Amino acid sequence: MDQLNLLYQWWQEVNQTTTVGAILTSLIVFSFCLLYLFNLTRNKGLNFPPSPPKLPIIGNLHQIGARLHHSLRNLSDKYGTIMLLHLGHTPFLIVSSAEIAKEIFFKTQDAFLYRPQTRAARALFYACCDIAFCPFGDYWRQVRKICVQELLSQRRVQAFQFVREVEVANMIEKIRDSSLSGDAVNFTQMFAVISNNVIFRSALGRAYEEETNKSFSELSRSAMDLIGYFCFEDLFPFLGWLDNLTGLTAKLKTTSGEIRSFLDQMIGKREILNSSDDESDEKDLLDILLHLQKDGSLEIGITRENIKAILLDMFVGGTDNTATTLEWAMAELVKNPSEMRKVQAEVRRVVGKKSKVEENDVNQMEYLKCVVKETMRLHVPAMITRATIASTMLQGYDVPPKTIVLINAWAIQRDPKLWDRPEEFVPERFLNSSVDFTGQHSQFFPFGAGRRGCPGISLAIAEIEYVLANLLYWFDWQLPDGARGEDLDMSDVYRLLIRRKVPLRLVPVSRF
Ligand SMILES: *[C@@H]1O[C@H](CO)[C@@H](O)[C@H](O)[C@H]1NC(C)=O
Ligand SMILES: *[C@@H]1O[C@H](CO)[C@@H](O)[C@H](O)[C@H]1NC(C)=O
Ligand SMILES: *[C@@H]1O[C@H](CO)[C@@H](O)[C@H](O)[C@H]1NC(C)=O
Ligand SMILES: *[C@@H]1O[C@H](CO)[C@@H](O)[C@H](O)[C@H]1NC(C)=O
Ligand SMILES: *[C@@H]1O[C@H](CO)[C@@H](O)[C@H](O)[C@H]1NC(C)=O
Ligand SMILES: *[C@@H]1O[C@H](CO)[C@@H](O)[C@H](O)[C@H]1NC(C)=O
Repeated sequence: MDQLNLLYQWWQEVNQTTTVGAILTSLIVFSFCLLYLFNLTRNKGLNFPPSPPKLPIIGNLHQIGARLHHSLRNLSDKYGTIMLLHLGHTPFLIVSSAEIAKEIFFKTQDAFLYRPQTRAARALFYACCDIAFCPFGDYWRQVRKICVQELLSQRRVQAFQFVREVEVANMIEKIRDSSLSGDAVNFTQMFAVISNNVIFRSALGRAYEEETNKSFSELSRSAMDLIGYFCFEDLFPFLGWLDNLTGLTAKLKTTSGEIRSFLDQMIGKREILNSSDDESDEKDLLDILLHLQKDGSLEIGITRENIKAILLDMFVGGTDNTATTLEWAMAELVKNPSEMRKVQAEVRRVVGKKSKVEENDVNQMEYLKCVVKETMRLHVPAMITRATIASTMLQGYDVPPKTIVLINAWAIQRDPKLWDRPEEFVPERFLNSSVDFTGQHSQFFPFGAGRRGCPGISLAIAEIEYVLANLLYWFDWQLPDGARGEDLDMSDVYRLLIRRKVPLRLVPVSRF
């Protein structure tokens, strides 16, 4: 909702230059009035889900605070676990019940298999020809198959273990320097760097070079920021032209242009080298995509644009989510010293006196796996988004066409009706339980679920577990300035993801 603030500021400025402001205001008010009248005469006889009272022009926008996940939970407590909001002119279906979420994931056929194609998504992902945003249909089936069977398969996750090892070793080296000088480690920054490096190497095989040019990580970061913005066009389709005035259109154009030319360069180099013919195991995602494109085994061919969009997906989907989860995990462990001791003891027992934590070790760390699950229960990184394109029914209610569906996994995973001690960090709850990340058998679906669930679960979890195991094996962790764990501020903010409000800084104490 940062964008709303920006718009508001911009609006104030326009209003100060009086004539332009006056003309614009009357235009806008006029178009709103027309629409409002038009709306009053529509939608008779349909049974929509309950809605909070809305204002004529902005709908329910005024009821949404900066912390979207909290606002939506509060509204749901009052109006119901299925609720229809209007943000501007766009209908949003808010779901805060596990049962209804699972109906959407697994039982509603194709109606909810779409994603909102916001203006930013269309600009950045080549008219949404990636996996995250592309419309449900044959092309989507094809791309999903590529992701599941080729790019993000279990085999590939194992093949990329060497990437995680190199990057984690670098990270541990840096932390060791801090432990010698007694400096705190800024985890917000460190996790952003490592998650970006891991994706960069996996996707493009080249180490992320901090010093050269404006690095791609900055580009994918600005892409992510832009995706989080709601443009005028998304909320008030008839006001799309205002996005040109706010400069958003220009910014989207520049950023997507820069990303395009960077990826074009990378692809161009590969095509000259023919490196996709290389049969070695150290193929990166780009090699695989180019190979698939050439060998003609696909039913629907993929173009260069498709390849670029899919690569960008990997960056956008695989960087911030992972970094945020890692940061929350370390924060929860520092805040809960007995859980910290327990997980450290396990990690150190399994690794023993080896000079390196191995991937196989991690598979024996039951408690560590529970820590990751419990972190993702309390701090699910994002809302789960879907969209409809046609009118449909859900739980006996009519859902209008072109509705954006937000499943508030954050609220569901803290629902006192479903979880014992919902606000507490209790990794033990996942011990001996069959709950996994697929969302099939539980009220736990941090990655979404069903056919449109995130295909990168294994890759993300492998990285999170391996990084955590290393941090806990090599170091003990303290808060700076002798602060006590119990006092650690756990406030969150909503900026596309649910992040820590205060960056986590911890002082490492080397065990060796
Ligand atoms: C939600 O409700 C709680 C308790 O009623 C209140 O403390 C909190 O400020 C509300 N949050 C938002 C974002 O409205
Ligand atoms: C930690 O890193 C984040 C992200 O790079 C930065 O915004 C923040 O200012 C840093 N905090 C401190 C205390 O250095
Ligand atoms: C930096 O960018 C320029 C222009 O895009 C390019 O010509 C140059 O090779 C780049 N330098 C490095 C070290 O990547
Ligand atoms: C907004 O800008 C884009 C490109 O910069 C242009 O194609 C479009 O026509 C503009 N829209 C309006 C309403 O001016
Ligand atoms: C790459 O492949 C093309 C045709 O597939 C061939 O013409 C070209 O010589 C190859 N380039 C190299 C460097 O092997
Ligand atoms: C999990 O199972 C093991 C043996 O299979 C048992 O010893 C342990 O107490 C169980 N833990 C919980 C939390 O139920």
